[in-house]
Amino acid sequence: KRLILVGPPGCGKGTQSPKIKAEHCLCHLATGDMLRAAVKAGTPNGVRAKTAMESGALVSDDIVVGIIEEAIKDVSCRNGFILDGFPRTVPQAKMLDEMLGKKGVAVDNVLDFQIPDEVLVERIEGRWIHAASGRSYHTKFSPPKIAGVDDITGEPLMKRKDDNAATLKSRLDAFHAQTQPVIDYYKSRGKVNVIHANKPSKNVEEQIASALK
Ligand code: AP5
Ligand code: ZN
Repeated sequence: KRLILVGPPGCGKGTQSPKIKAEHCLCHLATGDMLRAAVKAGTPNGVRAKTAMESGALVSDDIVVGIIEEAIKDVSCRNGFILDGFPRTVPQAKMLDEMLGKKGVAVDNVLDFQIPDEVLVERIEGRWIHAASGRSYHTKFSPPKIAGVDDITGEPLMKRKDDNAATLKSRLDAFHAQTQPVIDYYKSRGKVNVIHANKPSKNVEEQIASALK
């Protein structure tokens, strides 16, 4: 399957992706994770993306489309993938359609994570991540076994630079202005499954499983 996960910052895209991956054996392509790795490594894309990411604005379409185009060439993505955080603008969605069309394939499902903006501050402010894997934890909702430490590698957890209330506001503005139209774009093609994301993680997981049956 070829899946798109779309929803506002903190809705649970990164939390659900590994579960979908385990169930369906797909590759997980998270543009946010890939961009953070590029910023950390100081690559040309990372240098170009850094300021926008730290202010909560979107990175330019050409950078993210280039990253995705490279990533889906990987053999591990041949039978399907989960796009987490991409496409986020209508031009990105059109470029994706074109890219897939050339291979004779298409997007199967768009999972639309719906959740009120008000609950996202708490989710974002309590988040801790393991940078290398993109795994996320929450001090209240899904704490690691040992505070500040990744369960699997034992490495230290960190905070994302954009995880503060002020930057969240800009990220939400970008979502409503630029990404909401992407959902409408796929709705008109009949590919959207609504996921009620303001529920415990296990419940969200079940909704996704039944949408993908
Ligand atoms: P990105 O990394 O994609 O960030 P985002 O979209 O803002 O989404 P998040 O990662 O914040 O949220 P999530 O839905 O993954 O939440 P999570 O599962 O971790 O993008 C970052 C930046 O990169 C962008 O601002 C932009 O600058 C740039 N960028 C990326 N892609 C781009 C693109 N295509 N075009 C242009 N620019 C791009 O959950 C959050 C917290 O809540 C966690 O602590 C988690 O444990 C907890 N939680 C999860 N589910 C539940 C639940 N059901 N109940 C309670 N708590 C929960
Ligand atoms: Zn994420």
